[in-house]
Parts: sequence; C-alpha cells; structure tokens
Amino acid sequence: MFAFEPDPAQPKADVYRELVEAARALTAGEPDPVANMANLAALIWQFVPRLNWAGFYRMIDGELVLGPFQGKPACIRIPLGKGVCGTAAQSGETQLVPDVHAFPGHIACDGASASELVVPVRRDGRVIAVIDLDSPEPARFDEEDAAGIEALAAAIAAAI
Ligand code: SME
Repeated sequence: MFAFEPDPAQPKADVYRELVEAARALTAGEPDPVANMANLAALIWQFVPRLNWAGFYRMIDGELVLGPFQGKPACIRIPLGKGVCGTAAQSGETQLVPDVHAFPGHIACDGASASELVVPVRRDGRVIAVIDLDSPEPARFDEEDAAGIEALAAAIAAAI
C-alpha cells in the first residue's frame, strides 16, 4: 500500500509539486506502462479535487485509445483532431477548456463534465498519450492546473 496524503488546503503549486514527487516515487523502477498509468490515474484522482474523470488516452496507430482512468466508462477511440483530447494530441498543445459545451466537436463521454484540461505527453519529441481531466464545475481549471499537469506529463513520459 502507498500512503500519500495530499493537503488540499495548501497552495495549488505545492499540491502539484507533491503530486509530481509522488508520481516519480510510484513509477520508479517499474517498467510496465499499464501498471504505471493505473497508479498515476489513481494519484491524480487523490490529489486533484473536484473531478469526475481523470486518466490517459494513448496514441496507437494514429488515433487515441482509452487507457487507465478513474471515473465512469468512457469513449474508447478518439480520432486525431476530434474533441478536446484529439485536438491536444494533434496540436501537441495543452487544451484548457472552461466550458466544454462551447468547444467545437467536444466529445461528451460523461454528461456531468463541464470543464476539461488535456495535456499531451511527449517522448522523444512525439506525442505518445494525453492526460485528460474533467470536472463537473465550469471553469474548474486554470493556468496553475495546466502547469502542474504539464510538469506531471514531463515527469512520467518515460514510465508509460
Ligand atoms: N471530452 C473528451 C473525451 C474524453 S472524456 O472526457 C473522458 C474530448 O472531447 O476529447
């Protein structure tokens, strides 16, 4: 068992610093990408409050395929350029979406989602996956959340 105890009362930047440290510790020495993504999704769920979905989509043969996650069952395959995840994967850029209903082509996997943050994970210059966070709260994510998940993506790229 791993006991990580995030304190949601501390500044957001500190929570993300701890999340990244925990992620490094949890994946250190473990070569299995599924095991690592499963634990990382659980860790995000534990550290980041007010989410209804958190997990991975992996780039496989030119499309995104669902990976380990927390939350309700989700769409399995997302073409590049489609939805928030497909846009992040194609552009290689973080998508910070305050209102998913205003995002052209948003894919509604869970009707409860109101805002979304999707961060590409790059290895050797290529996007190999995206980390997707959904919240039932409009405009739940800000630049600090984006920076925190980008730091996580960089830290775990070699482990997934
Ligand atoms: N809403 C995402 C699809 C994935 S689910 O949110 C888990 C999108 O538009 O890409």
